[in-house]
Amino acid sequence: MLTANREKGMITREQIEQAKRQRDITFFRKVLDARQSDGILLQVLDRLGKLPPDFDPAPLLALLDHPNPEVRLGAVKGLSRLENPVLLPIFAQHVREESNTRVRRELVSAIGRLRLPEAIPLLGSLLSDPDPKVVLQVIRALLCFRDHPEVQSLLAPLAEHPNELIRTVIQHEFSRAEHEKSDSLPHPMSPDWLKNLFVCADVLEMLAYVPSESVHLTFTSPPYYNARDYTLYRSYEEYLEFLVQVFREVHRITKEGRFFVLNTSPVLIPRMSRQHSSRRYAIPFDIHPRLIEIGFEFIDDIIWVKPPGSAKNRNGGFFQHRKPLGYKANSVVEYVMVYRKATDKLIDWNMRQYDPSVIEASRVTSDYEPTNVWEIAPASDPVHPAVFPLELATRVIQLYSYKGDLVFDPFAGCGTVGQAALLTERYFLLTEKESTYFKYARELLSTGNLLTDFPPRFLHLTQFVQLAKEHKE
Ligand SMILES: C[S@@+](CC[C@H](N)C(=O)[O-])C[C@H]1O[C@@H](n2cnc3c(N)ncnc32)[C@H](O)[C@@H]1O
Repeated sequence: MLTANREKGMITREQIEQAKRQRDITFFRKVLDARQSDGILLQVLDRLGKLPPDFDPAPLLALLDHPNPEVRLGAVKGLSRLENPVLLPIFAQHVREESNTRVRRELVSAIGRLRLPEAIPLLGSLLSDPDPKVVLQVIRALLCFRDHPEVQSLLAPLAEHPNELIRTVIQHEFSRAEHEKSDSLPHPMSPDWLKNLFVCADVLEMLAYVPSESVHLTFTSPPYYNARDYTLYRSYEEYLEFLVQVFREVHRITKEGRFFVLNTSPVLIPRMSRQHSSRRYAIPFDIHPRLIEIGFEFIDDIIWVKPPGSAKNRNGGFFQHRKPLGYKANSVVEYVMVYRKATDKLIDWNMRQYDPSVIEASRVTSDYEPTNVWEIAPASDPVHPAVFPLELATRVIQLYSYKGDLVFDPFAGCGTVGQAALLTERYFLLTEKESTYFKYARELLSTGNLLTDFPPRFLHLTQFVQLAKEHKE
């Protein structure tokens, strides 16, 4: 029967299963003979399925030197399923000699499956493999022994690996270890002492006292470089570096897999004189790679569109002369860039952390904008020159947090994010360095029907530091 089918070029699954049951090694020697056609070999290898632990590996071992890498791959997969520790030296020899990257990856996986501590030095030597996928496979294998100090020191340098996926896995692994060491709160919870708190301070000074992984969402609009008069930086680089420092801290205090929503737009620094040209700075695009570098994952680019009349007219000259190159678009959009603290956990994991009643209460049942173009009229304010429309802040909070979450705005201005948080039954944590805006925000946030279990508190930095110290003890 075997011969008849082989003549037709077919080895059926039933034949293979029967041979496995009967421990018919002669059958496997024949069908896995290296002189068989590649087609037959691949068919048999593909149909091998789970092998009994006492399966004689000899026919598969003979295929490890086959010229066709697909056949070698199938042979390694088959051998890997045996999970036989005696195969370690053979895998070790082949992984060093194997030129095909997929086969190498499979060999590493086979070594990992053995879960043998004596494989650690070999795995460590494979961390310099040129294929990032092989390195990721090695990392996975090494993580079975994550508590071995040797493994920790092998993995730590990979935090600087040129490949971003490897860096992310390592950073996550080390921050997970830190996380497990600290007695941090369950995911839906945040420290009570931070709830509905507005601190008048330089954000970096304040952030130094905020515990890691304590906020669920950050929504903010940072100062617009030197385009408004409230803040001055010596250079654009210095400005970006300042934002990087703040956002690195935002990353630290953000809970695993939670969102950071950043509203920015390009800004125009007017020309010095008629002999000079004005200069536009593409803040959202310049800050983007820095955020990825910090450890945020890019999720969405939402365009906030304002009505045409709300933009400063930049094409008066062009309207007259109509000469190409002289066109300047009136900017009616801002960017609402959505990032997530990078993690290997899915968003579903974040959702599952909540009680079903919280999920139910937080559902977005109203109409929502299904596209990434959000048409919202800008807001104006008698005191602050650049406030969020309450609608924008409310929408972001409803879409990217659950009721009872802690929402942070490091550049709070007059506290629009705080107002939106109260309206949507979240808690706020805000910082603003200008006391004029802080005092104004205090008025805005203290009035109205405050149905919250944590009445808003307004503190200066020294008071906040005192509070933070009390809660550390
Ligand atoms: C674009 S405004 C934000 C307005 C806010 N979204 C609102 O709705 O009122 C940026 C704010 O950041 C504040 N700011 C600038 N540098 C700061 C710093 N180092 N620490 C804290 N706040 C700062 C400015 O005073 C300004 O009020």
